[in-house]
Amino acid sequence: MREHIFSGWRESSRAFGFSQYDGPPLEPLELYKKKSGDEIIGQLYNFTDKGGREVALRPELTPTFARLAGARHRDYKKPLKWFAIPQLFRYERAQRGRLREHFQWNGDIVGEPSLSAEAEILAMIDHALRGLGLTREDYVIRVSDRQFWLDFLAKHNVTDSGKIYDFLQVLDKIERTPEEVSREKLGSLSAEVFALLNGGADSRRLDTLLAACASLGLSDAVQVDLRIVRGLAYYTGVVFEVHDRGGKFRAIAGGGRYDNLLQLIADIDLPAVGFGMGDVVIGEILKDKNLAPKTADGDSYYLVIADETLRPRALALASALRDGGYRVDYPLSAAKVGRQFQAAEERGHRYALFIGQEYADSGVCGLKTLATREQVNVKPLIVGGKVTALADG
Ligand code: HAM
Repeated sequence: MREHIFSGWRESSRAFGFSQYDGPPLEPLELYKKKSGDEIIGQLYNFTDKGGREVALRPELTPTFARLAGARHRDYKKPLKWFAIPQLFRYERAQRGRLREHFQWNGDIVGEPSLSAEAEILAMIDHALRGLGLTREDYVIRVSDRQFWLDFLAKHNVTDSGKIYDFLQVLDKIERTPEEVSREKLGSLSAEVFALLNGGADSRRLDTLLAACASLGLSDAVQVDLRIVRGLAYYTGVVFEVHDRGGKFRAIAGGGRYDNLLQLIADIDLPAVGFGMGDVVIGEILKDKNLAPKTADGDSYYLVIADETLRPRALALASALRDGGYRVDYPLSAAKVGRQFQAAEERGHRYALFIGQEYADSGVCGLKTLATREQVNVKPLIVGGKVTALADG
Protein backbone atom coordinates (compact mmCIF):
# COMPACT_ATOMS: atom_id res chain seq x y z
CA MET A 1 0.00 0.00 0.00
CA ARG A 2 2.75 2.40 1.02
CA GLU A 3 4.74 1.73 -2.15
CA HIS A 4 1.60 2.17 -4.23
CA ILE A 5 0.99 5.58 -2.67
CA PHE A 6 4.68 6.54 -2.98
CA SER A 7 4.81 5.67 -6.66
CA GLY A 8 1.70 7.79 -7.30
CA TRP A 9 3.40 10.69 -5.49
CA ARG A 10 6.64 10.23 -7.43
CA GLU A 11 4.84 10.06 -10.76
CA SER A 12 3.00 13.31 -10.11
CA SER A 13 6.20 14.98 -8.88
CA ARG A 14 7.89 14.01 -12.11
CA ALA A 15 4.92 15.09 -14.22
CA PHE A 16 5.21 18.56 -12.64
CA GLY A 17 8.98 18.88 -12.96
CA PHE A 18 9.92 18.48 -9.26
CA SER A 19 13.34 17.09 -8.27
CA GLN A 20 13.73 14.76 -5.31
CA TYR A 21 15.82 15.56 -2.22
CA ASP A 22 15.97 14.43 1.39
CA GLY A 23 17.40 15.70 4.65
CA PRO A 24 18.53 14.18 7.94
CA PRO A 25 15.88 12.62 10.22
CA LEU A 26 17.60 14.07 13.31
CA GLU A 27 17.85 17.84 13.63
CA PRO A 28 18.84 20.41 16.28
CA LEU A 29 15.86 21.07 18.54
CA GLU A 30 16.42 24.75 17.92
CA LEU A 31 15.25 24.38 14.31
CA TYR A 32 11.67 23.80 15.45
CA LYS A 33 11.45 26.25 18.33
CA LYS A 34 9.22 29.19 17.37
CA LYS A 35 9.42 28.34 13.67
CA SER A 36 6.85 25.58 13.62
CA GLY A 37 4.41 26.72 16.32
CA ASP A 38 3.32 25.47 19.74
CA GLU A 39 1.35 22.50 18.51
CA ILE A 40 4.33 20.80 16.91
CA ILE A 41 6.71 21.79 19.74
CA GLY A 42 4.43 19.91 22.13
CA GLN A 43 4.70 16.83 19.92
CA LEU A 44 8.47 16.62 19.53
CA TYR A 45 10.51 13.50 20.12
CA ASN A 46 13.50 15.37 21.52
CA PHE A 47 16.44 14.33 23.68
CA THR A 48 20.00 15.27 24.59
CA ASP A 49 22.54 13.30 22.55
CA LYS A 50 25.84 11.91 23.84
CA GLY A 51 27.59 15.12 22.87
CA GLY A 52 25.18 17.14 25.03
CA ARG A 53 23.30 18.57 22.05
CA GLU A 54 19.54 19.09 22.13
CA VAL A 55 18.15 17.21 19.14
CA ALA A 56 14.75 16.10 17.82
CA LEU A 57 13.43 13.56 15.34
CA ARG A 58 11.93 15.65 12.56
CA PRO A 59 8.17 16.27 13.02
CA GLU A 60 7.98 17.97 9.62
CA LEU A 61 10.38 18.67 6.77
CA THR A 62 9.74 22.34 6.06
CA PRO A 63 12.38 23.86 8.40
CA THR A 64 15.01 21.44 7.01
CA PHE A 65 13.88 22.28 3.49
CA ALA A 66 14.19 26.01 4.21
CA ARG A 67 17.74 25.51 5.46
CA LEU A 68 18.78 23.34 2.47
CA ALA A 69 17.11 25.53 -0.13
CA GLY A 70 18.56 28.65 1.50
CA ALA A 71 22.06 27.17 1.49
CA ARG A 72 21.98 25.80 -2.05
CA HIS A 73 19.64 28.07 -3.99
CA ARG A 74 22.49 29.67 -5.95
CA ASP A 75 23.40 26.32 -7.47
CA TYR A 76 19.99 25.97 -9.13
CA LYS A 77 17.78 27.93 -11.46
CA LYS A 78 14.80 29.49 -9.75
CA PRO A 79 12.08 28.75 -9.09
CA LEU A 80 13.28 25.62 -7.30
CA LYS A 81 10.72 22.83 -7.43
CA TRP A 82 11.71 20.13 -4.95
CA PHE A 83 9.91 17.13 -3.49
CA ALA A 84 10.67 14.57 -0.79
CA ILE A 85 8.96 11.68 0.99
CA PRO A 86 10.41 11.80 4.52
CA GLN A 87 9.41 9.71 7.51
CA LEU A 88 8.23 12.03 10.28
CA PHE A 89 7.69 11.61 14.02
CA ARG A 90 5.13 13.37 16.18
CA TYR A 91 4.28 12.48 19.75
CA GLU A 92 0.53 12.78 19.14
CA ARG A 93 -2.25 10.82 20.78
CA ALA A 94 -2.38 7.96 18.27
CA GLN A 95 -5.85 7.81 16.69
CA ARG A 96 -7.49 7.11 13.36
CA GLY A 97 -5.62 9.11 10.73
CA ARG A 98 -2.91 10.31 13.13
CA LEU A 99 0.00 8.13 14.19
CA ARG A 100 3.31 8.75 15.93
CA GLU A 101 5.21 8.14 12.74
CA HIS A 102 4.13 8.67 9.19
CA PHE A 103 5.52 9.35 5.75
CA GLN A 104 4.68 12.65 4.13
CA TRP A 105 4.96 13.77 0.54
CA ASN A 106 6.31 17.33 0.47
CA GLY A 107 6.36 19.53 -2.62
CA ASP A 108 7.73 23.06 -2.33
CA ILE A 109 8.51 25.89 -4.73
CA VAL A 110 11.08 28.52 -3.81
CA GLY A 111 11.68 31.84 -5.53
CA GLU A 112 8.26 32.48 -7.05
CA PRO A 113 6.25 35.29 -5.46
CA SER A 114 3.22 35.04 -7.76
CA LEU A 115 0.13 32.94 -7.12
CA SER A 116 0.96 30.74 -10.09
CA ALA A 117 3.18 28.83 -7.62
CA GLU A 118 0.18 28.09 -5.37
CA ALA A 119 -1.86 27.04 -8.41
CA GLU A 120 0.92 24.70 -9.53
CA ILE A 121 1.07 23.08 -6.08
CA LEU A 122 -2.72 22.60 -6.00
CA ALA A 123 -2.68 21.12 -9.51
CA MET A 124 -0.01 18.62 -8.46
CA ILE A 125 -2.02 17.53 -5.41
CA ASP A 126 -5.12 17.10 -7.57
CA HIS A 127 -3.10 15.14 -10.16
CA ALA A 128 -1.77 12.75 -7.52
CA LEU A 129 -5.17 12.11 -5.92
CA ARG A 130 -6.71 11.33 -9.30
CA GLY A 131 -3.71 9.16 -10.16
CA LEU A 132 -4.45 7.08 -7.06
CA GLY A 133 -7.98 6.51 -8.34
CA LEU A 134 -9.95 9.16 -6.42
CA THR A 135 -12.22 11.65 -8.15
CA ARG A 136 -13.10 15.25 -7.36
CA GLU A 137 -16.34 13.97 -5.93
CA ASP A 138 -14.25 12.28 -3.25
CA TYR A 139 -12.11 15.26 -2.17
CA VAL A 140 -12.04 19.04 -2.11
CA ILE A 141 -9.14 21.48 -1.81
CA ARG A 142 -10.23 24.23 0.57
CA VAL A 143 -8.24 27.41 0.04
CA SER A 144 -8.03 30.40 2.30
CA ASP A 145 -5.91 33.46 2.94
CA ARG A 146 -4.22 33.80 6.31
CA GLN A 147 -3.01 37.28 5.41
CA PHE A 148 -6.63 38.34 4.94
CA TRP A 149 -7.25 37.55 8.63
CA LEU A 150 -4.01 39.19 9.74
CA ASP A 151 -5.05 42.36 7.90
CA PHE A 152 -8.50 42.09 9.48
CA LEU A 153 -6.93 41.86 12.95
CA ALA A 154 -4.57 44.77 12.26
CA LYS A 155 -7.58 46.86 11.24
CA HIS A 156 -9.09 46.10 14.65
CA ASN A 157 -5.79 46.92 16.39
CA VAL A 158 -5.09 43.34 17.39
CA THR A 159 -1.31 43.18 17.06
CA ASP A 160 -0.23 41.09 20.04
CA SER A 161 1.15 37.78 18.70
CA GLY A 162 -0.52 35.76 21.46
CA LYS A 163 -3.92 37.30 20.67
CA ILE A 164 -3.40 36.70 16.96
CA TYR A 165 -2.54 33.07 17.67
CA ASP A 166 -5.63 32.62 19.86
CA PHE A 167 -7.83 34.14 17.17
CA LEU A 168 -6.45 31.79 14.50
CA GLN A 169 -6.98 28.84 16.86
CA VAL A 170 -10.66 29.75 17.29
CA LEU A 171 -11.08 29.86 13.50
CA ASP A 172 -9.19 26.59 13.09
CA LYS A 173 -11.61 24.86 15.47
CA ILE A 174 -14.79 26.71 14.51
CA GLU A 175 -16.19 23.78 12.53
CA ARG A 176 -16.07 21.44 15.50
CA THR A 177 -17.16 23.99 18.14
CA PRO A 178 -20.74 25.09 19.02
CA GLU A 179 -21.39 28.54 17.54
CA GLU A 180 -22.11 30.22 20.93
CA VAL A 181 -18.73 29.08 22.26
CA SER A 182 -16.85 30.46 19.25
CA ARG A 183 -18.84 33.72 19.40
CA GLU A 184 -17.95 34.16 23.03
CA LYS A 185 -14.26 33.57 22.36
CA LEU A 186 -14.27 36.02 19.46
CA GLY A 187 -15.90 38.67 21.64
CA SER A 188 -16.44 42.01 19.91
CA LEU A 189 -15.16 40.62 16.60
CA SER A 190 -17.65 37.78 16.43
CA ALA A 191 -20.42 39.43 14.37
CA GLU A 192 -17.99 40.57 11.72
CA VAL A 193 -16.12 37.26 11.63
CA PHE A 194 -19.30 35.24 11.15
CA ALA A 195 -20.50 37.65 8.47
CA LEU A 196 -17.20 37.18 6.62
CA LEU A 197 -17.35 33.40 6.98
CA ASN A 198 -20.85 33.31 5.58
CA GLY A 199 -20.50 36.07 3.03
CA GLY A 200 -17.03 35.45 1.63
CA ALA A 201 -13.87 37.49 1.73
CA ASP A 202 -12.77 40.30 -0.44
CA SER A 203 -9.34 38.88 -1.18
CA ARG A 204 -7.54 39.79 -4.35
CA ARG A 205 -5.13 36.94 -3.66
CA LEU A 206 -7.92 34.37 -3.65
CA ASP A 207 -9.52 35.85 -6.78
CA THR A 208 -6.20 35.66 -8.63
CA LEU A 209 -5.60 32.12 -7.37
CA LEU A 210 -9.06 30.96 -8.46
CA ALA A 211 -8.48 32.38 -11.94
CA ALA A 212 -5.15 30.52 -12.23
CA CYS A 213 -6.83 27.34 -10.95
CA ALA A 214 -9.57 27.71 -13.57
CA SER A 215 -6.97 27.82 -16.36
CA LEU A 216 -5.44 24.62 -14.99
CA GLY A 217 -8.87 22.97 -15.05
CA LEU A 218 -9.17 22.84 -11.26
CA SER A 219 -12.39 24.80 -10.71
CA ASP A 220 -14.42 21.88 -9.45
CA ALA A 221 -11.60 20.71 -7.15
CA VAL A 222 -11.04 24.00 -5.32
CA GLN A 223 -13.33 25.88 -2.95
CA VAL A 224 -12.73 29.03 -0.90
CA ASP A 225 -13.17 28.43 2.83
CA LEU A 226 -11.96 31.11 5.23
CA ARG A 227 -12.14 28.77 8.20
CA ILE A 228 -8.87 27.22 7.02
CA VAL A 229 -5.99 28.99 8.77
CA ARG A 230 -3.60 26.05 9.55
CA GLY A 231 -1.91 25.26 12.84
CA LEU A 232 1.69 25.90 11.81
CA ALA A 233 3.11 29.32 12.64
CA TYR A 234 5.10 30.19 9.52
CA TYR A 235 2.40 30.62 6.86
CA THR A 236 2.08 34.14 5.50
CA GLY A 237 -0.48 34.12 2.68
CA VAL A 238 -2.65 31.58 0.93
CA VAL A 239 -3.21 28.43 2.99
CA PHE A 240 -5.12 25.31 2.04
CA GLU A 241 -6.20 21.88 3.20
CA VAL A 242 -7.49 18.89 1.32
CA HIS A 243 -10.40 16.98 2.84
CA ASP A 244 -12.66 14.13 1.82
CA ARG A 245 -16.03 15.60 0.84
CA GLY A 246 -17.88 13.29 3.21
CA GLY A 247 -15.97 14.73 6.18
CA LYS A 248 -15.28 11.22 7.48
CA PHE A 249 -11.49 11.47 7.64
CA ARG A 250 -8.79 13.81 8.97
CA ALA A 251 -7.10 16.23 6.55
CA ILE A 252 -5.49 14.52 3.56
CA ALA A 253 -2.98 17.32 2.98
CA GLY A 254 -2.20 20.86 4.00
CA GLY A 255 0.11 23.69 3.07
CA GLY A 256 0.49 27.28 2.04
CA ARG A 257 2.82 30.17 1.40
CA TYR A 258 5.62 30.95 3.86
CA ASP A 259 7.55 33.94 2.59
CA ASN A 260 9.52 34.66 5.80
CA LEU A 261 10.82 31.24 6.80
CA LEU A 262 13.93 31.21 4.61
CA GLN A 263 14.87 34.58 6.04
CA LEU A 264 14.40 33.28 9.57
CA ILE A 265 16.28 30.01 9.05
CA ALA A 266 18.77 30.67 6.24
CA ASP A 267 19.05 34.45 6.30
CA ILE A 268 17.97 34.81 2.72
CA ASP A 269 14.91 36.61 1.47
CA LEU A 270 13.15 34.13 -0.79
CA PRO A 271 9.42 33.45 -1.12
CA ALA A 272 8.21 29.87 -0.81
CA VAL A 273 5.05 27.80 -0.99
CA GLY A 274 4.45 24.11 -0.43
CA PHE A 275 2.41 21.31 1.10
CA GLY A 276 2.57 18.01 2.93
CA MET A 277 0.39 14.94 2.31
CA GLY A 278 0.60 12.02 4.73
CA ASP A 279 0.36 8.34 3.83
CA VAL A 280 -2.02 7.47 6.67
CA VAL A 281 -5.28 9.24 5.76
CA ILE A 282 -4.90 8.63 2.05
CA GLY A 283 -4.32 4.92 2.81
CA GLU A 284 -7.54 4.82 4.89
CA ILE A 285 -9.50 6.49 2.09
CA LEU A 286 -8.15 4.15 -0.60
CA LYS A 287 -9.18 1.19 1.56
CA ASP A 288 -12.60 2.70 2.19
CA LYS A 289 -13.17 3.20 -1.56
CA ASN A 290 -11.81 -0.24 -2.39
CA LEU A 291 -8.92 1.31 -4.30
CA ALA A 292 -6.23 -0.43 -2.28
CA PRO A 293 -3.82 -2.43 -4.44
CA LYS A 294 -3.75 -6.20 -4.15
CA THR A 295 -0.46 -7.67 -2.91
CA ALA A 296 0.58 -8.65 -6.44
CA ASP A 297 -0.55 -6.22 -9.10
CA GLY A 298 -0.55 -6.47 -12.87
CA ASP A 299 0.24 -9.63 -14.77
CA SER A 300 1.55 -11.97 -12.13
CA TYR A 301 1.48 -15.75 -12.19
CA TYR A 302 1.05 -18.39 -9.52
CA LEU A 303 2.26 -21.86 -10.44
CA VAL A 304 -0.09 -24.63 -9.37
CA ILE A 305 1.88 -27.85 -9.07
CA ALA A 306 -0.35 -30.88 -9.73
CA ASP A 307 1.82 -33.27 -7.74
CA GLU A 308 5.18 -33.21 -6.03
CA THR A 309 6.93 -35.31 -8.70
CA LEU A 310 6.47 -32.27 -10.99
CA ARG A 311 8.02 -29.80 -8.55
CA PRO A 312 11.56 -29.86 -10.08
CA ARG A 313 10.13 -29.04 -13.51
CA ALA A 314 7.86 -26.37 -12.07
CA LEU A 315 10.80 -24.71 -10.31
CA ALA A 316 12.87 -24.77 -13.49
CA LEU A 317 9.94 -23.13 -15.30
CA ALA A 318 9.59 -20.54 -12.52
CA SER A 319 13.26 -19.59 -12.97
CA ALA A 320 12.94 -19.36 -16.76
CA LEU A 321 9.78 -17.25 -16.43
CA ARG A 322 11.43 -14.88 -13.91
CA ASP A 323 14.53 -14.52 -16.08
CA GLY A 324 12.16 -13.72 -18.95
CA GLY A 325 10.67 -10.85 -16.95
CA TYR A 326 7.52 -12.55 -15.63
CA ARG A 327 6.41 -12.11 -12.05
CA VAL A 328 6.04 -15.56 -10.57
CA ASP A 329 5.19 -17.18 -7.26
CA TYR A 330 4.47 -20.81 -6.29
CA PRO A 331 3.76 -22.86 -3.13
CA LEU A 332 6.91 -23.56 -1.17
CA SER A 333 5.56 -26.84 0.17
CA ALA A 334 3.15 -29.54 -0.98
CA ALA A 335 -0.52 -28.49 -1.03
CA LYS A 336 -3.74 -29.78 -2.56
CA VAL A 337 -4.48 -28.37 -6.03
CA GLY A 338 -7.67 -26.64 -4.79
CA ARG A 339 -5.71 -24.94 -1.99
CA GLN A 340 -3.12 -23.74 -4.50
CA PHE A 341 -5.76 -22.10 -6.73
CA GLN A 342 -7.22 -20.49 -3.62
CA ALA A 343 -3.77 -19.21 -2.63
CA ALA A 344 -3.30 -17.76 -6.13
CA GLU A 345 -6.49 -15.75 -5.68
CA GLU A 346 -5.84 -14.70 -2.11
CA ARG A 347 -2.42 -13.41 -3.08
CA GLY A 348 -3.98 -11.26 -5.76
CA HIS A 349 -2.38 -12.89 -8.80
CA ARG A 350 -3.96 -12.44 -12.18
CA TYR A 351 -3.12 -15.91 -13.51
CA ALA A 352 -2.69 -19.44 -12.24
CA LEU A 353 -0.39 -21.59 -14.38
CA PHE A 354 -1.27 -25.25 -13.94
CA ILE A 355 1.72 -27.59 -14.17
CA GLY A 356 0.37 -31.12 -14.71
CA GLN A 357 1.60 -34.31 -16.35
CA GLU A 358 0.93 -32.73 -19.76
CA TYR A 359 3.71 -30.25 -19.07
CA ALA A 360 6.14 -33.09 -18.42
CA ASP A 361 4.96 -34.91 -21.56
CA SER A 362 4.62 -32.11 -24.09
CA GLY A 363 5.49 -28.77 -22.46
CA VAL A 364 1.87 -27.63 -22.32
CA CYS A 365 0.32 -26.07 -19.20
CA GLY A 366 -3.07 -24.60 -18.35
CA LEU A 367 -3.34 -20.81 -17.97
CA LYS A 368 -6.31 -19.69 -15.93
CA THR A 369 -7.34 -16.04 -15.67
CA LEU A 370 -8.52 -15.99 -12.08
CA ALA A 371 -11.02 -13.15 -12.33
CA THR A 372 -12.92 -14.62 -15.30
CA ARG A 373 -12.15 -18.33 -14.72
CA GLU A 374 -11.24 -18.64 -18.42
CA GLN A 375 -8.73 -21.34 -19.12
CA VAL A 376 -6.53 -21.92 -22.17
CA ASN A 377 -3.57 -24.14 -22.91
CA VAL A 378 -0.20 -22.45 -23.37
CA LYS A 379 3.28 -23.60 -24.19
CA PRO A 380 6.14 -21.59 -22.65
CA LEU A 381 8.78 -20.87 -25.31
CA ILE A 382 12.19 -21.07 -23.69
CA VAL A 383 15.15 -19.49 -25.46
CA GLY A 384 18.55 -19.37 -23.76
CA GLY A 385 17.00 -20.34 -20.42
CA LYS A 386 14.38 -17.56 -20.53
CA VAL A 387 10.69 -17.76 -21.31
CA THR A 388 10.17 -15.42 -24.24
CA ALA A 389 6.44 -16.07 -24.76
CA LEU A 390 3.50 -18.16 -23.63
CA ALA A 391 2.41 -19.49 -27.02
CA ASP A 392 -0.99 -21.07 -27.74
CA GLY A 393 -0.79 -24.66 -26.65
P1 HAM B 1 0.76 19.39 8.43
O1 HAM B 1 -0.61 19.91 8.18
O2 HAM B 1 1.25 19.35 9.82
O3 HAM B 1 1.76 20.23 7.52
O4 HAM B 1 0.85 17.94 7.82
C1 HAM B 1 0.50 17.69 6.48
C2 HAM B 1 -0.24 16.38 6.36
O5 HAM B 1 0.55 15.34 6.92
C3 HAM B 1 -1.55 16.28 7.08
O6 HAM B 1 -2.60 16.81 6.32
C4 HAM B 1 -1.70 14.78 7.26
O7 HAM B 1 -2.11 14.16 6.04
C5 HAM B 1 -0.28 14.36 7.49
N1 HAM B 1 0.02 14.19 8.93
C6 HAM B 1 0.43 15.14 9.80
N2 HAM B 1 0.61 14.62 11.03
C7 HAM B 1 0.32 13.30 10.94
C8 HAM B 1 0.31 12.20 11.84
N3 HAM B 1 0.67 12.33 13.12
N4 HAM B 1 -0.04 10.97 11.38
C9 HAM B 1 -0.40 10.81 10.09
N5 HAM B 1 -0.41 11.79 9.18
C10 HAM B 1 -0.07 13.03 9.60
C11 HAM B 1 3.13 20.14 7.54
O8 HAM B 1 3.73 19.27 8.09
C12 HAM B 1 3.83 21.19 6.69
N6 HAM B 1 5.26 21.09 6.97
C13 HAM B 1 3.49 20.99 5.24
C14 HAM B 1 4.17 21.99 4.36
C15 HAM B 1 5.18 21.77 3.48
N7 HAM B 1 3.88 23.29 4.28
C16 HAM B 1 4.67 23.86 3.40
N8 HAM B 1 5.48 22.95 2.91
